[in-house]
Amino acid sequence: MKKWAALFLVLCLTAGACALAEGGAKRSFSFSSSEKKEAESLTSYLSDFSGGTDGWYPRSAGSASLQVTQDGLTIVGRESTWNSPGRDFPLEAGKKYTLSVDVLQDAVDQAKFMISVAHSKNGTESYENLANGTAKKGEWTTLSCTWTPGVFDNYVLYVETSGNGTIDFTIRNFSVELNELRYDASLPSLKEVYAKYFPVGAAVTQGEALDQKRMDIYAAQFAIFTPGNELKPDSVLDIAASRKLAQDDPTAVAVHFDAAKPMLDYCKEKGLAVHGHVLVWHSQTPDVFFREGYNATGKFVSREVMLGRLDNYVRLIMAYMQENYPGLIVSWDVVNEAIDDSTGNLRQSNWTKVVGDDFVERAFEIARKYAPEGTKLYYNDYNTPMAPKTDGICALLERLVAEGNIDGYGFQSHFAVGNPGLSKIRQAMERIEAMGLRLRVSELDITIKANDEPNLRSQAIRYENLFSLYLEHAASLDAVQLWGVSDDLSWLAPQYPLLFDARMQPKPAFWSVVELAK
Ligand code: XIL
Repeated sequence: MKKWAALFLVLCLTAGACALAEGGAKRSFSFSSSEKKEAESLTSYLSDFSGGTDGWYPRSAGSASLQVTQDGLTIVGRESTWNSPGRDFPLEAGKKYTLSVDVLQDAVDQAKFMISVAHSKNGTESYENLANGTAKKGEWTTLSCTWTPGVFDNYVLYVETSGNGTIDFTIRNFSVELNELRYDASLPSLKEVYAKYFPVGAAVTQGEALDQKRMDIYAAQFAIFTPGNELKPDSVLDIAASRKLAQDDPTAVAVHFDAAKPMLDYCKEKGLAVHGHVLVWHSQTPDVFFREGYNATGKFVSREVMLGRLDNYVRLIMAYMQENYPGLIVSWDVVNEAIDDSTGNLRQSNWTKVVGDDFVERAFEIARKYAPEGTKLYYNDYNTPMAPKTDGICALLERLVAEGNIDGYGFQSHFAVGNPGLSKIRQAMERIEAMGLRLRVSELDITIKANDEPNLRSQAIRYENLFSLYLEHAASLDAVQLWGVSDDLSWLAPQYPLLFDARMQPKPAFWSVVELAK
């Protein structure tokens, strides 16, 4: 039963991690040093079955059998729902693992699948269902979950159907990842290697901010942080309290900062800068903010009342920050994503409906009124280099420049590897610079289709090309900020867009960005 472990122990004995190529396809396995000794617990496992059954066997009391096919590992001849492809895994109790598998069935309109585990203790077997999913006929479907094993003598992970009897099905890309940070403190630091060009920063969410160990790693790498969600209107507005206040004054607003506090406190304590995101946005903003009495059934308030609410909202935020975190927030996204992608005109939203087409200008006027002196104010948007959006963004920026309340443009930069082209990005940057505006790359991430070597390499090249463009324009860049740090916690996690993997190991892109600065 432990034959596979012995095989990989031999293969991996001298290296902490090894990639083994079989039949042209790559599968990677990595072991920590203690695991080298006993191969007892696993940190990372992935199989696409291109090299065979890889230790998987049919769990069956009868005729079920496994076949390695072009698609993956297929089970046929099942006689009951628990008949399944299964494999022994050396897991450690109390550790957190991420499990994932793709399933395919061609037998019925839809079938429910589960990743389950059979474990035994002193000879008594017990079971848990860990991940669920429904696979439509002919469509690959991913099941995934995180799971922390209890104390058992052994663990068999398997993929079974739930209530769909005995259909044949196929699995591929079965993966098990230990969710443990394995950060190497001797890594070069992004913020240090780029210190003479621009601050490098990242977005963090509340969950990350509450994890001190993780934040200490982030702080070693980044100089400025943005709350990923926690200063958006849906986090900041206290609707119940606003509703009460509105009985006396329809423009009254109540706010709170419960979600943002952990990251603000951390940054204050460590002397790190914060960029605020975002005061005005059509998204993540409660509809009742725009309605009479803050009631879902209320009519939209008048333009005057809404501008009054916005004035109060921004005033209260700035006052709270000034009182509790003076000097911490160096800049704000005042308005986010006001331009429509397909027309380049203003996006229709509650803001245009209730305030009107000058809501962006009014928001900047209010933000300037209350922001502490020296706070930089940005308009922030995505798809900047895409026609007709570039024209629309620039037209809006021109109006804002004319009113004198804007400092710069936040170039979100959610990109794919091949799109948009570098020259288009350069042109858009130059056009905005020519208006006399500062730039900040505010939400950089680069998606890839798979977490494999060729994609990671293309991603590294793309990051390198972008950072060399940023170096060319360093004089007009206030910051280059990534939209997250580790792939697993990204809003685009399935597309592995960031510089660190789930265990905080640097990816090829990290190295290409670091090497470029050196
Ligand atoms: C994203 C967050 O990362 C997600 O957690 C949330 O569910 C949706 O918003 N442009 C922006 C950011 O300005 O606020 C968005 O953040 C990503 C796109």
